[in-house]
Amino acid sequence: MLATDTTKYFIIDFDSTFTKVEGLEELADISLEGNEDKNKILNQIAEITNRGMEGKGSFAEGLKARVQLMQANKKHLSILVDRLKNKVTNSVKRNRKFFEEYADYILIVSSGFKEFIVPVVTEYGIKEKNVYANTFIYDEKGNIVGFDENNPLAKDKGKIELLRKLELQGEVYVIGDGYTDYEIKEAGLADKFYAFTENVQRDAVLKKAEFIAPSFDEFLYQNNLPMVISYPKNRISVLVLENIHPHAVKLFKNEGYSVEVINSGLDEDELCEKVKNTSILCIRSKTQVTEKVLNHAQRLIAIGAFCIGTNQIDLKAAVKKGVAVFNAPYSNTRSVVELVMGEIIMLMRNIIEKSNKMHNGIWDKSAKNSYEIRGKKLGIVGYGNIGTQLSVLAEAMGMEVYYYDIVEKLQLGNAKKCHTLEELLQKVDVISLHVDGRPSNKNMITTRHFDMMKDGVIFINLSRGHVVDIDALAQAIKSGKVRGAAADVFPYEPKNNQEEFVNVLRGLPNVILTPHIGGSTEEAQYNIADFVPNRIIEYINTGNTFQSVNFPNIQLPELVNAHRFMHLHENVPGILAQINQIFAKHHINILGQYLKTNEQVGYVITDVDKKYDKDVINELKNIPHTIKFRTLY
Ligand code: NAI
Repeated sequence: MLATDTTKYFIIDFDSTFTKVEGLEELADISLEGNEDKNKILNQIAEITNRGMEGKGSFAEGLKARVQLMQANKKHLSILVDRLKNKVTNSVKRNRKFFEEYADYILIVSSGFKEFIVPVVTEYGIKEKNVYANTFIYDEKGNIVGFDENNPLAKDKGKIELLRKLELQGEVYVIGDGYTDYEIKEAGLADKFYAFTENVQRDAVLKKAEFIAPSFDEFLYQNNLPMVISYPKNRISVLVLENIHPHAVKLFKNEGYSVEVINSGLDEDELCEKVKNTSILCIRSKTQVTEKVLNHAQRLIAIGAFCIGTNQIDLKAAVKKGVAVFNAPYSNTRSVVELVMGEIIMLMRNIIEKSNKMHNGIWDKSAKNSYEIRGKKLGIVGYGNIGTQLSVLAEAMGMEVYYYDIVEKLQLGNAKKCHTLEELLQKVDVISLHVDGRPSNKNMITTRHFDMMKDGVIFINLSRGHVVDIDALAQAIKSGKVRGAAADVFPYEPKNNQEEFVNVLRGLPNVILTPHIGGSTEEAQYNIADFVPNRIIEYINTGNTFQSVNFPNIQLPELVNAHRFMHLHENVPGILAQINQIFAKHHINILGQYLKTNEQVGYVITDVDKKYDKDVINELKNIPHTIKFRTLY
């Protein structure tokens, strides 16, 4: 190594830093396989490790105790190495290039053992001679019976002694999760200590650390070192409100984002305060994201609406601020459809009345007013996500399906299209509404419509409360025009579970009332919690806006060997030309370009050769009408 005073050395710990786990604990897990007391011994080992890492107890004594407890043999080591190779810390894996490029200046300093460290780290270009760690001693049968006790790293304050001997000339950075790593800095042998928290967080270490690296990306970012991603993911902060399914939190955490969970909703003022440093805001239907909230959210990249509707978000204001909104339009479709199918059967068989009688001790066995659904005509109003799935399921159960939609829709199976709502209403035995909540759908079913339906029709609304004139429905039920009805949505719905449900449909015969739970199943909650984070993560990682509610939808090819520039601007003429003039002026080779606009904005994505003058970025940002500019690599 040819070192100068400006040389930077990187002292990196192995256990729980370079790899996600503690090598000795993994070794014990392998060597104690089949041992009755395995769990007890593993706990003892972990306890000793943690005490050492927190700076408590004698390290040397602890190491001796752990080696004895493990009862390991040479043959276990190859299994261990394979395991550790699979458990290399995610951000270390990502930044292989840094390790290769800086191999001469990276030292692994560990109180673990060379036997398992060297094969793992050398795969990342780190030099064997730069690995400082302990070595095992074996008996003639290959059993691990001890370790070289003369090695400084086998002793208390061993890392300090080693660093003193090394006499590194230059700046020394130490990155590790343990107290012994911090001690190097404390002893004046390092310029900076970074507590590495991607795998474990140790309070005693965090209290002392002046710098914290939740990932390797963050360390590289802070020190202006080459990194593979454009921005450390831990700097992306996610605020999760309203009891969203924990699967969503898991997905964001796996991605390396910093996640804060608040199980309730927040009112406007609370949200304005809370959202100041948020990059991703996750809500359900209660949280109102107003223009005022958006104006407070200076770092916001995306909003996840973990539901179907997005009325609670000011979408126009969001797009103006360059904030992409994603929802979960299909995740609970199946749940709604299953409930509708069940209700059709219950209503056709008059089960509600029969069941109520039974609860009152009345045995009323008769086939009167009970019908099969087979061969009956089902009319679906609104042939969207839910309407079409219902069409398929109902047909599979032998119903004859008719549908009406205001826009041309592909008919599935043998479903028959009706050209008007009236045509459908007159034809069918069961009507199910699946239209969206647009204002013009208010009271789309009134007395006039009930009058034209067949006598004894079954009427189901699991779409939106305001689409049916509820008094007209109550009247039609009382008159016998409607023989059975199910409603899950109402013009006015109680704000919480404490408020009484007041409605003219209460107490009417053969009517199923449910509290807006058509889409509420465990499966749907999980599906939503899976769908929305994945859309957001993809948007952040690739710029893909497919299925965004308010951004022009672009589905992009994967970024390969290029840098990607994403430019969001107000939809005024000539922006694309200005972007391309800048590229031409700087002789930038464009590998691919994609443009899409909506009424409000234009979104241009350009993949370019990696070599370009950095001035180009400022020029692109300064094009008038630019809302947001981002680069990805
Ligand atoms: P979607 O947007 O996929 O389908 C709605 C369809 O209705 C579209 O094809 C549209 O062209 C059509 N439409 C709109 N107005 C119409 C009209 N006046 N006449 C005929 N067709 C019309 O929506 P999706 O996902 O199928 O949801 C349908 C409804 O179900 C929505 O209102 C949604 O809010 C509601 N929903 C209710 C749930 C519950 O818990 N009860 C759960 C999920 C959705």
